[in-house]
Amino acid sequence: MRTLVVLYSYDGNTAFIGKAIADAVGADLEILTIVQEKHHKGFMKYVWNGRAALMKEEPELAPLKHNVAEYDLIFLGTPVWAGTWAPAFNTFFNTTNLTGKKVACFYCHAGGAGSIEKRFRKQLIGSSLLGMKGFIEPLWHRNKNEQEEIARQWARTMVEIAQHDQRE
Ligand SMILES: Cc1cc2nc3c(=O)[nH]c(=O)nc-3n(C[C@H](O)[C@H](O)[C@H](O)COP(=O)(O)O)c2cc1C
Repeated sequence: MRTLVVLYSYDGNTAFIGKAIADAVGADLEILTIVQEKHHKGFMKYVWNGRAALMKEEPELAPLKHNVAEYDLIFLGTPVWAGTWAPAFNTFFNTTNLTGKKVACFYCHAGGAGSIEKRFRKQLIGSSLLGMKGFIEPLWHRNKNEQEEIARQWARTMVEIAQHDQRE
């Protein structure tokens, strides 16, 4: 089963989990990169990025290194911004055909995941959504190894479900 992890991360939490997932299940890794992204710090990080999320901006992404069409199972990972995915995923969803693909979503947040799961379900209506999992600031967690292990276990479960799905 060809598996790809597609993620966007601003501060490293989602990348931390995404890399653990890719390593655990032997997946390729695609990190979404915004062309000319500004890296704001402190309060301005929330102002500008929160605005971009609320406005449903579609930032220009650097060309992807992997062809999603060639994969059977795709993990999607994002931080939660203003209760939804980061704007890089607006662009990704609008330029990528996930119809009929097996998909599993993970997201990192600070304790208020908002309606992201509902949004994923709606966005991925034509895909086979196998599962979703949230992580609270895993990189800054006092036991980040445990968070990593939870991600690895979850990823293996998703692959098992995908394999089962494929046999039917
Ligand atoms: C602009 C912005 C908006 C955010 N909105 C939320 C939110 O609605 N709910 C929440 O729990 N955390 C929110 N957060 C916190 C991030 O989701 C959290 O720190 C996440 O782990 C960051 O992932 P990253 O390190 O991969 O960028 C927000 C962070 C930023 C920068």
